[in-house]
Amino acid sequence: MSMQRTPEPELMDAPAQARAYAEADFSEPNQLFVDRFLGSFDLPGAGRLIDLGCGPGDICIRLASALPGWVVTGLDAGPNMLALAAEALAASGLQSRVDLVLAHLPAEAPQGPFDAIVSNSLLHHLPDPATLWQTINSLAAADCYVQVMDLHRPDSREQAQAMVDEHAADAPEVLRQDFFNSLLAAYTGTEVHEQLAQAGLSDLELTCPSDRHWMVSGRLRR
Ligand SMILES: C[S@@+](CC[C@H](N)C(=O)[O-])C[C@H]1O[C@@H](n2cnc3c(N)ncnc32)[C@H](O)[C@@H]1O
Repeated sequence: MSMQRTPEPELMDAPAQARAYAEADFSEPNQLFVDRFLGSFDLPGAGRLIDLGCGPGDICIRLASALPGWVVTGLDAGPNMLALAAEALAASGLQSRVDLVLAHLPAEAPQGPFDAIVSNSLLHHLPDPATLWQTINSLAAADCYVQVMDLHRPDSREQAQAMVDEHAADAPEVLRQDFFNSLLAAYTGTEVHEQLAQAGLSDLELTCPSDRHWMVSGRLRR
């Protein structure tokens, strides 16, 4: 029996919180995310990709750099977070192929279709998880590559604390607290499986790429 979810605030856009998040070292899960995406699909040389809830933009930049023919959109509802993404983007020199869009899902979805849709660590922030799956359904091109990753809720607060101690031992307290709260707000694989069925997305595959993440990936053929 898994622990009940404790939602956390939807946006993490207080300036200090956004800055601490942007300065944290998420290179390991972010590169895992990018490597899985590049390794899972035989991607065409060009296309349009969107990253839903892109935060400080690290994954957008890694993907744009690995996919030179692609145009990438990073969408986020947090203006402070997006300002930090703009800083990182300017430093990367990839501005001509990455657009940053300030938009709050589901009310402000951008103009699709997109050939690829990715999202990391957004789902557990949404008041209604169906928002993410419906957005994917509405933005997907006829043959769309999809990859979504987020944390998996542990069975107890003690297990969540042990994960924080293992993976964020030396991180600043604000990030350790964020990570703990995110683990408590995360969905389990079983819950995600049900969400996919309800959204008509059961063709997508659900896997566990690490001890603390689940991943949904596949091609949506319409
Ligand atoms: C935990 S961060 C993840 C950021 C990034 N994807 C990453 O992997 O580092 C979650 C992000 O989702 C954004 N967000 C939350 N609710 C949103 C919504 N309804 N529409 C768009 N963005 C949202 C937040 O502003 C925040 O930047």
